[in-house]
Amino acid sequence: MRVLSVFGTRPEAIKMAPVISELSRRAIEFDSRVCVTAQHREMLDQVLSVFEIEPEYDLDLMTENQTPAGMTASALSALDPVLTETSPNLVLVHGDTTTTMTAALAAFYRKIPVGHVEAGLRTHDRYFPFPEEMNRVLTDSLSTLLFAPTAGSKENLLREGAAPDSITVTGNTVIDALLDVASRAGPPATELPEGKRLVLVTAHRRESFGTPLENICRALLDVVESFPDVVVLYPVHMNPNVQRAARAILGGHDRIVLTEPLPYVEFVSLLKVSYLVVTDSGGLQEEAPALGKPVLVLRHETERPEAVGAGTVRVIGTEYDAVLGECSRLLSDASSYRSMAEAVNPYGDGEASGRIAAAILAHFEGAPFERPREFAPAGGAPC
Ligand code: UD1
Ligand code: UDP
Repeated sequence: MRVLSVFGTRPEAIKMAPVISELSRRAIEFDSRVCVTAQHREMLDQVLSVFEIEPEYDLDLMTENQTPAGMTASALSALDPVLTETSPNLVLVHGDTTTTMTAALAAFYRKIPVGHVEAGLRTHDRYFPFPEEMNRVLTDSLSTLLFAPTAGSKENLLREGAAPDSITVTGNTVIDALLDVASRAGPPATELPEGKRLVLVTAHRRESFGTPLENICRALLDVVESFPDVVVLYPVHMNPNVQRAARAILGGHDRIVLTEPLPYVEFVSLLKVSYLVVTDSGGLQEEAPALGKPVLVLRHETERPEAVGAGTVRVIGTEYDAVLGECSRLLSDASSYRSMAEAVNPYGDGEASGRIAAAILAHFEGAPFERPREFAPAGGAPC
């Protein structure tokens, strides 16, 4: 059967790479094609190169400081001819970006079934994160097959009335990607001041632009001033709204290293040697706990409650006092740090892509293909 995977941004590419690799490996069962919208350009290309993915279609849509509405309009028009030319049995999308929602809608308009990888994540607040929460809800409604990473995300889908047999709990494909990359990641190449504790930072959410992001940056500056043995590394997202704030407030300090977005292998190398992760990223909330790294989340809510429940992730908001206070506590109180530095992995076991492939075959081909056994976390860290 023909499967067209459509994605456009860095996190989608990282999390779809193991699925594409699985479909390609099973070439007797799947004719796997890839279309990238290139909603991201450089940040997408970094990932395509790490995982050696050569898309059949590259729509090259990114423009400077684009809006969700503009990207939706251009992706919808550009995807339609790809769908008619490829005529896939299934379109696979991932996550919650503009590309995700638009590709699902474009497929629906052609009556092509959609499979949603990372289905069912919810904050239950339509404006946080914005516009991702609504993108997820819309994509799930448009999808025939729902690949929920955890039992909690399956529960969200069932509560909204999704058909139980459309849902498979697969684990998150990010753990498949992380296991692959962590095994080949050596010591980091990035030059950092020696003998310091590394605080790894990423922040890029649209709802944080302006004052919240400025508060975060000011607090990080004061963290570094308060702890002479700390170095902050912040690979700054290419969104101009993020670049402006980060470089204006954090630039020029000898223990704050601002870099371009880093290739995934290098980023995982740094994650492995980091002391603490401070982030508003979704993927990092899943990866860092698997490596036993405490995570402070620069948001007021999360759609990933599992690691919060396990005690390794704390949602701290974006206010100056909270960011400075929570970072300082973990940097000065060894027992608070130890209680969060437990390696846990509620998000996957490295087999998510295999379950997705099996669930697709069971749905479209029937016997002898069977639905896979669902993911259930075993505890402990495989990385
Ligand atoms: C998008 C997603 C967000 C995801 C994030 C991952 C939407 C609405 N948002 O946010 O869910 O968490 O990607 O990083 O889909 N840019 C570049 N080069 C790049 C990438 C971005 O220059 O490789 C700049 C461009 O000026 C671009 C801008 O960043 O217009 C914004 O990109 P966009 O994809 O619209 O939003 P993100 O903030 O990256
Ligand atoms: N990442 C990366 N290089 C970086 C920063 C992050 O490869 O410089 C990876 C990170 O490990 C994670 C993903 O990018 O897998 C997260 O992407 P992003 O923060 O852009 O999106 P989100 O997860 O918030 O949707």
